[in-house]
Amino acid sequence: MGDTLGIAGGHAGDGPVAQHWNPERYQREAGFVAELGRPLLDLLAPQAGERILDLGCGDGRLTQEAAAGGARLTGVDLSPQLVAAARGRGLDVQVADAAALPYPDASFDAVLSNAALHWMTEPEPVLGEVARVLKPGGRFVGELGGAGNVAAIVGAIANALAQRGIEVTRAYPWYFPTPAQYRAQLEAAGFTVGSLDRFARPTDLPADISGWLATFAESFLAQVPADARDQLVDDIRTALEPSLRTPDGRWVADYVRVRFVVHKAAT
Ligand code: BEZ
Repeated sequence: MGDTLGIAGGHAGDGPVAQHWNPERYQREAGFVAELGRPLLDLLAPQAGERILDLGCGDGRLTQEAAAGGARLTGVDLSPQLVAAARGRGLDVQVADAAALPYPDASFDAVLSNAALHWMTEPEPVLGEVARVLKPGGRFVGELGGAGNVAAIVGAIANALAQRGIEVTRAYPWYFPTPAQYRAQLEAAGFTVGSLDRFARPTDLPADISGWLATFAESFLAQVPADARDQLVDDIRTALEPSLRTPDGRWVADYVRVRFVVHKAAT
């Protein structure tokens, strides 16, 4: 990944770009992703000896915690850089597309996914693959951004891009469903829904919103030439300051989650 925004070649104006991840920046700017994902481990309740897949495992921090009690964790992620970081923790992880998982049918007792499914903008093939690799009766425990997630941030990005004649939808990289939409998709993939909730989770950022934008919003920033990105980030930051910056100077992002526990039929 490149040095400033991680976009090789100064891509500008050709629509959505792939998201790249820098493990050092990820640790610095996104450590909260694994920390705030911990409630999923209580819902998952990994058992010693179980085979569990972490779908979109990132740098493997939560994967490692899930394995602490003796479950056999395997991870997949689309980012070679994050997979390398996860391997550095000694984890069994590979680069793979969630819509084409490299495992035989009924390989896993459970599947875990934290803050990854919203990057998979076509949910049907992904949920189909999760159902396929789960054993009968297996559980799928996950969390993703829900409808309204980071709405203030997206609004500020959209305005800043519009001022430059760029339509935000052309760079939009996420899928933030309503609970009803995701429930219907899970059920269509054959799952029985145990619980599925949407809730606001205002999220304290470890640093400035500009760090969040550089880490998570690459697709939007890449819509302008490399030498115009600092100004774009500045404009977005200025627009968000009144709503997302606290009087003592912290930045709190307007996260909204959808969290679920579902099961594949036992027979
Ligand atoms: C999220 O975890 O909700 C999220 C992550 C990156 C960009 C937007 C949202």
